[in-house]
Parts: sequence; C-alpha cells; structure tokens
Amino acid sequence: MRDDAIAVYYATRDGQARRIAEHICRRLSAGGMLPAPRNLLPALPPPAELAQARLIVLVAAVRYGRHLPEADRFLSVYSALPTPPPLALASVNLSARKPGKTTSSGNPYLRKTIARHRLAPAAAVAFAGRLDYRLYNWRDRLIIRFIMLLTGGPTDAATSIEYTSWSAVDEFADRIAALRRRD
Ligand SMILES: Cc1cc2nc3c(=O)[nH]c(=O)nc-3n(C[C@H](O)[C@H](O)[C@H](O)COP(=O)(O)O)c2cc1C
Repeated sequence: MRDDAIAVYYATRDGQARRIAEHICRRLSAGGMLPAPRNLLPALPPPAELAQARLIVLVAAVRYGRHLPEADRFLSVYSALPTPPPLALASVNLSARKPGKTTSSGNPYLRKTIARHRLAPAAAVAFAGRLDYRLYNWRDRLIIRFIMLLTGGPTDAATSIEYTSWSAVDEFADRIAALRRRD
C-alpha cells in the first residue's frame, strides 16, 4: 500500500484530536510521505475521496456524550459506501483517563458509535484527552467541573492537564502500520 493511500481525518474543538492525528501521521510517515491530517470542518471530504483510500483513520473528540457532529456525519458517509475501506477509529475523551475505558468494549462513546453506524473497525481505541478549564466558557467550565467532581477528577478552575498517553498513540500508529503492511 502506498503511504498516501492512508487518509487521516480529525474532528476537534480544542485541538487535542488534531495533535493526536498529527502525531499518528508523523509516526506513520517516518521514512515516507503521508499527507497532513484533514479537519472535517468546514466541509466533509466527498465520498469518492473516501472510497479511493486504502485505509481510513478517524480521530474524533467527544463533547457532551457524543462524538462531534462532523465525525458522526463522516461515519454516515463512510458506512454508506458500497465497499468501505478498512477503518482505524480513535475517540478522544476524558472518560478514557480511567483504567478499562480505552477499548471499544470499555469506552461508552466508542462502543455506541460503532453500534450506531454498524462499523467493523480494523482498529479502535479511546485516548484520554486534555482538560483545560481556561479554554472553556463559564457554562462548559461549570458542567465539566461538576462531572469531574462526580468522577474524582480535578475541579480547580486553573487546571490544565494533558492526559493523553503518547505511547498509546504510538502503539495505535504501529497497528495502523501493520495493517498497511498486511495489504
Ligand atoms: C464542552 C465539553 C464537553 C465534553 N464532554 C465530554 C464527555 O461527555 N465525555 C468525556 O469523556 N469527555 C468530555 N469532554 C472532554 C473532551 O473530550 C476532551 O477535552 C478532549 O481532549 C477534547 O478534544 P479536542 O481538544 O480535540 O476538542 C468534554 C469537553 C468539553 C470542553
């Protein structure tokens, strides 16, 4: 499979899903060339672009219990393809900071999205994202602090923590590389 046959997309609001997608691209393209990951905003890629890819990677952030709407729309387009290419799916959320919540069976957002779109991803993982109260508006800050209070996370309004395990991101990229080699 050619390197440029891997198409990497992301859906983000605060940048962590983009950073993860960029990290995956850098690791995959060591020694080769891989196009930069593409934001699903402002416009989704046309179905023909997805159909042409040999492998699709989607890194999608969660907000208020669901993946971002453009990621959901992307997966609707993807799953309507007559013969969809293999999919490597990564969810970015704060639930994944907890043990057991990084797999497709253990992470509720990943599990529900896979079921809703009837996906059969070649690889699926949830990465812990970033908590940075300074970025949020007062309403989001209030709600996230309350959720953190309930789930034993930090509530200090000055908190800025990156929970992402970059070694887990490396492992995911290596699984994608193995899928590429298998082709
Ligand atoms: C408004 C808001 C709502 C969120 N809702 C959830 C949620 O329902 N579940 C969860 O696990 N994480 C939730 N998060 C945490 C985000 O998934 C996490 O911050 C992630 O890193 C965001 O990715 P992004 O920087 O690519 O936008 C929320 C964050 C914000 C700001």
